[in-house]
Amino acid sequence: MLIRKTPAFALRPSEITPEAVYRERRRFLAQIGLGAAALALGRAAPALAGEPAMAAAGAGLSVGKHSDLAAGEKVNRFEDISRYNNYYEFGAYKSDPADHAHTLRTRPWTVDVGGECEAPARMGIDDILKAYPLEERIYRHRCVEGWSIVVPWDGFALGPFLQRFKPTSKARFVSFYTLYDPAQMPEAGHLLPWPYREALRIDEAMHPLAFLSLGMYGRPLPAQNGAPLRLTLPWKYGFKSIKSIVRIAFVEQAPETTWNMVLPEEYGFYANVNPGVDHPRWAQKTERRLGEYFKRPTLMFNGYPEVASLYSGLDLRTFF
Ligand code: MTE
Repeated sequence: MLIRKTPAFALRPSEITPEAVYRERRRFLAQIGLGAAALALGRAAPALAGEPAMAAAGAGLSVGKHSDLAAGEKVNRFEDISRYNNYYEFGAYKSDPADHAHTLRTRPWTVDVGGECEAPARMGIDDILKAYPLEERIYRHRCVEGWSIVVPWDGFALGPFLQRFKPTSKARFVSFYTLYDPAQMPEAGHLLPWPYREALRIDEAMHPLAFLSLGMYGRPLPAQNGAPLRLTLPWKYGFKSIKSIVRIAFVEQAPETTWNMVLPEEYGFYANVNPGVDHPRWAQKTERRLGEYFKRPTLMFNGYPEVASLYSGLDLRTFF
C-alpha cells in the first residue's frame, strides 16, 4: 500500500473549494455510490505557493506568438496547475488525476470530426500538431466551484481548425467528447454519464478566444490537464473546457452536455462566468485564486468582455 506523507502546510481540498461545494460534492458522490472508504480518506492537495511560473525550460514545444490575455496577473506555478485538477475519469479529489492519469496513453491518438460538415475526417494528433503553428495564450480560468488560476496555454484558435472540416449551414452547435476507456481511466464508469461531453453554439466555437490547447508552460500537456488536446474557453466556467478530446461533431440541435445532464438546474449549457448569477448552492461573486489567501471579485465573462456580443438579447439569468 502506498503511504503518502502530507506536509503540515498542505491545504485540504475543503480549504480551497468552498465548504458548501465540498460538502455537497461528498453528498452527491455518496448518493451515487462512490466507495465510502475513498470519501473517508479525504486526501490532501499539494501546497499552493503561488510563485511565478516556471520557465518553459527546454520543454520541446515550439511556440510562436505569445499573448498575455490575463492583464499581467501573476501566472500560477506549473507544479500547482498539474497537481490540482478536475478530471473525474481519474477520481474526484484534486490530487487524483496527477496520481492516476499516467495510465492514459496519448499516442497513437486520433480525433474524429464529423456530423453536419462537408469534409469529415479522422486526424492523428501528430498531423494536427504539424498543421497548426502553436501560440501561447495566458488566460484566466475560473472553476464553477469558486477557485481560479492563470495558465500559459500552448495551442491554436479553435475556429480555423473547425473550418477545415467545412461545417454546413445546419451546423448550429458543435459537440466534443473525451476518450472513454475504463481500462485507462479507473473512475470512468462511476459517477457521471460517460464519455464526458461538452458543446458550444457554433458562433461561440468560432470566437477568436476559443482555444485548443496541446501544451502549457511550453511543454506538452500533462495527462491530468487533458493531454493530448483539450478545449480552453476562458470566459466560461472550467467544466466547459473538456479534456482529452477524441470526437467532434457538428449538429443541428442543442446537444447534451455532461454536468447539465446530471444537474440541469445547477449547470447551464452556456456556463458563462457571471458574478450576477449565483449557483443555487453558493455565491459566484468572488473567487479564490490558487496560492492567494483573500478572495477577489469575479469578473463578468471572467474579464473577457469581447464575448458579450455573442449573448446580446439573451437573458443570462435564464440562459445561464
Ligand atoms: N474534462 C473531462 N473529460 N473530465 C473532467 O472531469 N473537468 C472539467 C474540465 N474538463 C473535466 C474536464 C472541470 S470541472 C474543470 S474546472 C477543468 O477541466 C479543470 O482543468 P484543469 O484540471 O486543467 O485545471
